[in-house]
Amino acid sequence: MAAFIIPGCSTSFIVALLVLVCSIAGHLPLHSCQETYYDPEWKPAGGTWYGDPDGDGSDGGACGYGVLSTSPYGSSIAAGNSPLFLNGSGCGVCYEVKCNHTDLCKPTATDVVITDLCPGGAFCDGSFPHFDLSGTAISKMAISGQEEALRTVAVYDLLYRRIPCSYPGQNISFTVDSGSNPFWLSLIVKYEGGPGDIQAIQIKQAGNDSGWQAMTQNWGANWMVQSNTGSALQGPLSIRLATQLTGQVVVAADVIPAGYDPGATYESSVQF
Ligand SMILES: *[C@@H]1O[C@H](CO)[C@@H](O)[C@H](O)[C@H]1NC(C)=O
Ligand SMILES: *[C@@H]1O[C@H](CO)[C@@H](O)[C@H](O)[C@H]1NC(C)=O
Ligand SMILES: *[C@@H]1O[C@H](CO)[C@@H](O)[C@H](O)[C@H]1NC(C)=O
Ligand SMILES: *[C@@H]1O[C@H](CO)[C@@H](O)[C@H](O)[C@H]1NC(C)=O
Repeated sequence: MAAFIIPGCSTSFIVALLVLVCSIAGHLPLHSCQETYYDPEWKPAGGTWYGDPDGDGSDGGACGYGVLSTSPYGSSIAAGNSPLFLNGSGCGVCYEVKCNHTDLCKPTATDVVITDLCPGGAFCDGSFPHFDLSGTAISKMAISGQEEALRTVAVYDLLYRRIPCSYPGQNISFTVDSGSNPFWLSLIVKYEGGPGDIQAIQIKQAGNDSGWQAMTQNWGANWMVQSNTGSALQGPLSIRLATQLTGQVVVAADVIPAGYDPGATYESSVQF
């Protein structure tokens, strides 16, 4: 990533404009305006399922989130094919999905979050969006008592739409990769609410107030930075994140302590 795109200025202008337009247009709640970002229209997608019948798909996955079922992500997850995974930019994005077997599927939608890649094969190749759902997500889509029958169908016609992510009581967190060292920091970004996705990340070392340095996306939700001073990275490190969908920016001040621990997860006190 060559430059950190800080859409703060233009975005807050657009948001201000939206709020203005919305309030002029009859005091609509801001919620209605957010649909500008979250297209309310249902679109078609393909569906399959993977992993254990009651599982969280792959227990981990290509985004790098690690164990899911006991985490705030939970087990209602999906592996997206390329149009949804977007080379990792689609990691953490939340969708509602529903299926059209009226005898087996609930009419209401089920929430899923993209945590993995469906890399290809008979169903995931191509440009048509495809959700490879966890067994748990299939259970949630099913009418009560029809969970096993719905899993037996195996291939689904879905409707989907993007929704804001919500992790009540949970702020954005960073898990330091076990391969990190004092000069090289690689981490997984987790639990972004709202848009759920990341456009850019910058990091700032302690005592360098002008020193925002771009992190590079490695793969999935894994981002890295190397010291550009010739010395070890000086903690505590602050992290600035911008989301892709809405351009919102947050700063997790001093979130990574000096002497950070490879493998440790550090929770910030910011959220989208
Ligand atoms: C993924 O990355 C490759 C190469 O970096 C690029 O050619 C391709 O268009 C990207 N795909 C998507 C869906 O962004
Ligand atoms: C679901 O919808 C697709 C078209 O979107 C249709 O081909 C299929 O027959 C439908 N399945 C059921 C069970 O209604
Ligand atoms: C402060 O950060 C900037 C951007 O990363 C870097 O170019 C500069 O060398 C840093 N200054 C010091 C004194 O470390
Ligand atoms: C998350 O951040 C909010 C706002 O800064 C803070 O009030 C709250 O205590 C944080 N929650 C946790 C679990 O750290």
